[in-house]
Amino acid sequence: MPISVRSFAKINLGLRIGALREDGFHELLTVYQTIGLHDVIRVSLERGSGIEIRCADPRVPKDSSNTCYRIVESAMQALDVRGHIVIDIEKRLPVQGGLGGASANAVAALLGLERVVKKALPAEERLRIAAEVGSDLPLFLVGGTVLGLGRGERVYPLEDLPAMTCVVVTPEVGVSTPHAFARWDRRTAGRAETSKLTMPGASDRMVELGRGISAWLSKSYSGAPFGRGRAENPLLELVRAGIKNDFEEVVFPEYPELSEGKSALECAGAKYASLSGSGSTLYGLFASKDAAHAAVIRLRRQGWAAQVTVTLTRKQYWRRVFAE
Ligand code: C5P
Repeated sequence: MPISVRSFAKINLGLRIGALREDGFHELLTVYQTIGLHDVIRVSLERGSGIEIRCADPRVPKDSSNTCYRIVESAMQALDVRGHIVIDIEKRLPVQGGLGGASANAVAALLGLERVVKKALPAEERLRIAAEVGSDLPLFLVGGTVLGLGRGERVYPLEDLPAMTCVVVTPEVGVSTPHAFARWDRRTAGRAETSKLTMPGASDRMVELGRGISAWLSKSYSGAPFGRGRAENPLLELVRAGIKNDFEEVVFPEYPELSEGKSALECAGAKYASLSGSGSTLYGLFASKDAAHAAVIRLRRQGWAAQVTVTLTRKQYWRRVFAE
């Protein structure tokens, strides 16, 4: 019997790009948030050897370049297990969509593998193997609201926030993350403050978001009520802390329809709208389910592929990962 694992997506609640490092990666500061949209990964163990990827979507690689293949190969070695592993990917999330689909798939494959071979890696080992495969894999080993540092792979769980309704808009285009980073570098190279940006730890943008997150966390952990006397959603408090996605500056000029999608979400009543990761997915946070559903109707009429989902707390994430 294959093990089915729900591979939930993430959005970025703010993303600041810092210094370009010697290893070719950029320092990042971001808050990841898992959401209810997901792919389904089925892992089974058969007689023989090797790793086989099955997926009906032709855009998903079936060879050793697939993130699921890479993580399962490393994990089988670390767990010292043999056999023919079949990974079936039921793709629902957009490919190259900024929702971390391929990264989430890999983590789901790892969790499924552990179940089928009835062996588990220590948590630190899982995080190490995940980070080797890609910068935004480890967040899916935490779930909920997650602080991402380093190249995005150093992850720390933040306080569980109440679920919030969001609308996700998935334009047809796929945005390449390395390409978006390269555009960022070209853009910053043209600026006077370039020398500042390429010095380690010298990014004002990261310091700014860091302060906002710190203020938000202190408030949240103090137990003081959010907002002015009202029970306000802490996510909206985070929005007010000044979250912003730096990728918008380089992705919107190249794909103007994405900028239009953000405006459409704002016009449809989003309390906050943003590009997720390097895109192309846009999301909007809404005050209520009704407001989100009304926005989806409006956005679809305008021709946008829009759907309602919710943010998942860490507990909800882990409760739903194994699709029994
Ligand atoms: O880690 P991942 O495989 O997802 O990264 C893909 C590419 O994105 C990297 O090779 C690098 O070009 C770029 N990247 C970056 N800085 C990061 C994360 C990714 O420059 N923090």
